[in-house]
Amino acid sequence: AGIVVLVSGSGTNLQALIDAAADPAYGVRILAVGADRAGITGLHRAAAAGIPTFVCRVQDYPDRGAWDAALADLIGVHEPALVVSAGFMKILGPAVLGRFTVVNTHPALLPAFPGAHAVRDAIAYGAKVTGCTVHVVDAGVDTGPVIAQTAVEVRDDDTEESLHERIKTVERHLLVDVVGRAAREGVTVTDRKATIP
Ligand code: GRF
Repeated sequence: AGIVVLVSGSGTNLQALIDAAADPAYGVRILAVGADRAGITGLHRAAAAGIPTFVCRVQDYPDRGAWDAALADLIGVHEPALVVSAGFMKILGPAVLGRFTVVNTHPALLPAFPGAHAVRDAIAYGAKVTGCTVHVVDAGVDTGPVIAQTAVEVRDDDTEESLHERIKTVERHLLVDVVGRAAREGVTVTDRKATIP
């Protein structure tokens, strides 16, 4: 099954998918990697692996709707079975979400700590346990049905950086596992329950 991965930053989750996809037994091909900005490490990782890339920047379009439609077309060229948002820092619109099943990885145990500062927020709250979530993307911010989660302990001496590093170590494994199954077998959502057959 083919996937398109969307990134905005360092792309360590993307790299985990690239490494997994190198084994034919994984059964997933990364057809393209898209970003909302140029020059990021995630795009370099894709290029180094010989994967086609594209950039779709909000500021190049008259409004969010036009950007969303353009992004849907750029993804659609590759006809992916699944789209993976792996550290993609833009809210996806109806054109993309109406056309593709999209899964996202988030560095907290949703519905706790949604948004762009999940790790910082968990520490500031004084949470003792946080983790990561892979979920189906819907129109909200980190509100879609949960597919899988892994818990990570928060240590007394954790900084945002140290905790995020530990989360990302388990996040990579969770993402590779879920994306493999979801791309090969599809995701169904019934009554907010996301299942992979
Ligand atoms: C991940 O923790 C992801 O959940 C969050 O940002 C981080 C992205 O890291 N939204 P990377 O770009 O995959 O290295």
